[in-house]
Amino acid sequence: MKTDRTVKLKNGIEIPIIGLGVFKSPQGEDTINAVKWALEAGYRSIDTAMIYGNEESVGEGIRLSKVNREDIFLCSKVWNTDIREGRVREAFEESLERLQTDYLDSYLLHWPVAGYIGAWKQMEQLYREGRVRVIGVCNCKIPHLEALLAQAEISPMINQIENHPYLVQKPLTSYCRERQIACEAWSPLGGTGGNLLEDLTIQELGKKYHRSPAQIIIRWNIQRNVIVIPKSIHKARIEQNIDVFDFELTAEDMEQIDALDRELRVGPDPDAMIEKWK
Ligand SMILES: NC(=O)c1ccc[n+]([C@@H]2O[C@H](COP(=O)([O-])OP(=O)(O)OC[C@H]3O[C@@H](n4cnc5c(N)ncnc54)[C@H](OP(=O)(O)O)[C@@H]3O)[C@@H](O)[C@H]2O)c1
Repeated sequence: MKTDRTVKLKNGIEIPIIGLGVFKSPQGEDTINAVKWALEAGYRSIDTAMIYGNEESVGEGIRLSKVNREDIFLCSKVWNTDIREGRVREAFEESLERLQTDYLDSYLLHWPVAGYIGAWKQMEQLYREGRVRVIGVCNCKIPHLEALLAQAEISPMINQIENHPYLVQKPLTSYCRERQIACEAWSPLGGTGGNLLEDLTIQELGKKYHRSPAQIIIRWNIQRNVIVIPKSIHKARIEQNIDVFDFELTAEDMEQIDALDRELRVGPDPDAMIEKWK
């Protein structure tokens, strides 16, 4: 299968290196079809969150695909309100109910907002009980991880961060790698409404390899062993985004993409989010 390539996490569990993201994918037909088409195209990983408001449709898409639940790596996330109020277990059960499943492959803290270290203790408990196979965080910068690691009994296995050619995040990805925390790239294509796919270097590389700009960026992530979760609700794009296992970017071309870094965020800076959710 196309998606046989995985990343081995600290606890030995393997996560597919590519998954389907469903942020801004509306509840209903759009998400149901996107998930079903993705699974039919060979994806085996889906990334949702309570706050996306589409967990029911993700569950429905999985059921309609006829792919066995055990063959799918399903991720959801606990939202800031629940982190702040210490409602991790309740939020987890609510997500399972909406997704119509009895376990998650990974459950992530959505932002390191007030209360996230206490919330992590509850994540550890769910993990120990075997309710979730992998626990992790999103949007943690190095100081947020330092504070968490100082208190954690179980280290996060994943840090899902904004990561694309305009925000390469080398120090953070190196820090994570040294601690066996796998990095997962969100908004890998520059997010909804972004202009990364119009970048001239990416376009030129697309011409060179006879691939779309999206495929070039996805391939760049795969070659640097970063998990990537592009979102699309269009069948042709969903299929195109996973069709990236039969070509290889040269070391020079990888470096050319690295060099596009301009520390530009398309989503919120985690520190601003923390401030907002004080
Ligand atoms: N943890 C977090 O805080 C966090 C934050 C943001 C996102 N995420 C996760 O990361 C996933 C990906 O990030 P994202 O949704 O922000 O952005 P993205 O995947 O970088 O980009 C999505 C945009 O690219 C378009 N697109 C997809 N494939 C394309 C292709 N082959 N050619 C041209 N355009 C294409 C999509 O349009 P169409 O859908 O119209 O095709 C959509 O507008 C999310 O869905 C979510 O699961 C996590």
